[in-house]
Amino acid sequence: GVTHVDVAVIGTGYVGTTTSIAFAAWDHKVIAIDSDREKISKLNRSVLPFYEEGLEKRLEQYRGSGNLSFTDDLKQGIARCDVLFIAVGTPSSPDGSADLSYVEMVARQIGQMMDRYKVVVTKSTVPVGTGDKIKAIITDELKKRNLSFSVDIVSNPEFLREGRALYDALHPERVVIGCETETAKKVMATLYERAQAPILYTTIRDAEMIKYAANAFLATKISFVNELARLCEKTGTNIMKVTEGMGMDSRIGPQFLRAGIGYGGSCFPKDTTALLNLAREQKIVLPILQAASDVNQTQVTWFMKRIQRTMGSFSGKRITLLGLTFKPETDDTREAPSLKIIEQLLQNKAVVNAYDPQGMEHVKKIYPQVVYKLTPYEALKGADAIILATEWREILDLDWSKVKGLVTQPYLFDGRNALDPSAMRDLGYCYVGIGIGERGDY
Ligand code: UDX
Repeated sequence: GVTHVDVAVIGTGYVGTTTSIAFAAWDHKVIAIDSDREKISKLNRSVLPFYEEGLEKRLEQYRGSGNLSFTDDLKQGIARCDVLFIAVGTPSSPDGSADLSYVEMVARQIGQMMDRYKVVVTKSTVPVGTGDKIKAIITDELKKRNLSFSVDIVSNPEFLREGRALYDALHPERVVIGCETETAKKVMATLYERAQAPILYTTIRDAEMIKYAANAFLATKISFVNELARLCEKTGTNIMKVTEGMGMDSRIGPQFLRAGIGYGGSCFPKDTTALLNLAREQKIVLPILQAASDVNQTQVTWFMKRIQRTMGSFSGKRITLLGLTFKPETDDTREAPSLKIIEQLLQNKAVVNAYDPQGMEHVKKIYPQVVYKLTPYEALKGADAIILATEWREILDLDWSKVKGLVTQPYLFDGRNALDPSAMRDLGYCYVGIGIGERGDY
């Protein structure tokens, strides 16, 4: 049997909520804390602040089991736990560096409220050196209160993907634990015993770096392929076949080689920028990562030019955008390529219709000029062109022959290479993907 650990998690965003549910699933006692009362009251009714298939059911289950509770009372939450996770946001500052104000504020509050030795763990993605800062802040507060017990800091980065967050949290490929005392190491080992994953113990700084390095590498993989796609288009080669051939080499691997309109979301864009910023502070240049970021910045514009070459000016044309979220199975539209597409279409005086199974509400607030439709078929009626920006199953499974009858012109621009080009061409579409050759009769 595994001994249970009393855990508190501060921050009930994606990472905090999922981490809490995972620990509860492993039979630890978890209290999740957030200053946002409305969020807490929703969570106490098993309502998630974000969308993920099947997660609310698990939330309900572990609340019911008594392993998981939610509160806005930080002091009470801190008092009850032995291990305290910081899972608050680290947004981008205007200069691109990670904004640590939430992390620092929480660290200060912990120092003001702690009543005995605890292990304080960062789950938030934080720049190298943040563990030291947190330690200094907490120690400083303890000193002010004339308290002499110690605190151990741990860095335990989270690698979960949105949309598959709970699965990833429960079945990690590895657990990285940056810690510098035996006591902390022991507690963390107990906490993760049920994960049945290899644990890599490192220094706090190494763990902080691993998270950025992993995300930067994955982002670079995508941008490398997107860059190649531009050449494939010119040379009449097919990036899909090229990456298939590359990926069969186990040294390369098949994942994260999907060419498209670029990566978005809450991690890759922010983390690459933050790492570039960290390097700049150390007066180091990272030309490869800089290029990966540049390719991603320009990928939508590159695709839009390709579209214009095919169908001519956007002015007055009715364009239907299918998919708004940065990837399927999430309602997250942060840094989504679709936003850049809308921006450019509106600038070029197109009439934009859009459909997305989850992301319309968010985008409506940014672009009220776009016409949002409740079904894809309504959005497609009378379209002069279709742009597919997110490969939702529901969108891929549309009755494309019915769609053909609804549109005015059969231009189909697939920003994710997610549809079958030859099937679409057989239906009479003028199909254009990413890097599959202008001559492209594949
Ligand atoms: C990512 C990491 O995968 C995860 O380990 C980390 O903890 C957080 O950041 P996430 O942002 O949820 O997770 O999404 P992911 O599935 O990795 O996709 C990121 C973006 O890259 C999406 O916009 C996706 O469309 C794009 N992508 C992904 C590609 O364009 N091509 C690919 O081959 C893979």
